[in-house]
Amino acid sequence: MRTLCLYYTRTNTTKEIMENIAGIIGADVAEYTDGKDRSGFLGYAGACFATVKNTISKVSIRGEINLKEYDRLVIGMPVWVEGPCAIGRALIKKYSSVMPAEVYYVVAHMGDKHDYTAKIKAMDKLLGRPSAGQVSIRTKGNDYIRESAAFAQTLV
Ligand SMILES: Cc1cc2nc3c(=O)[nH]c(=O)nc-3n(C[C@H](O)[C@H](O)[C@H](O)COP(=O)(O)O)c2cc1C
Repeated sequence: MRTLCLYYTRTNTTKEIMENIAGIIGADVAEYTDGKDRSGFLGYAGACFATVKNTISKVSIRGEINLKEYDRLVIGMPVWVEGPCAIGRALIKKYSSVMPAEVYYVVAHMGDKHDYTAKIKAMDKLLGRPSAGQVSIRTKGNDYIRESAAFAQTLV
């Protein structure tokens, strides 16, 4: 089974999580982006603004990736403003027709107060079919590498 782990990252945490998962399950890994520099405080503020104003729609996958070559896809995305980030949602919307049948969501978030299960599951509307599974991982004050490894073991 060929698996691709995709991630968007602003401060490299989701990248670290997805590279860890990919290493454990023997998957390829690639980054998707809206092409904007979102580093630093201005980048953070711009990301909040773009999320609230719903202005993010452009997205592409870096490198020579053909989604049709994969049997399984694991999509990593950070939480932005209490939901999976708009760039991840744009990715699903744009590529759902060429994504493999088996799609998993991995969502990274800083806080520990919210249960994102319903918001993550709601992305199935964009996917156009039920996803195969999901996990949300707290990244602050938590061993997110261990937690992502535990999720990866369920995919081995
Ligand atoms: C614009 C923006 C909004 C965010 N909103 C939330 C939020 O509502 N809840 C939360 O727990 N974390 C929130 N975060 C924190 C990120 O989800 C968290 O730090 C994540 O691990 C970052 O992943 P990254 O390093 O791959 O970019 C937000 C981050 C950004 C940039």
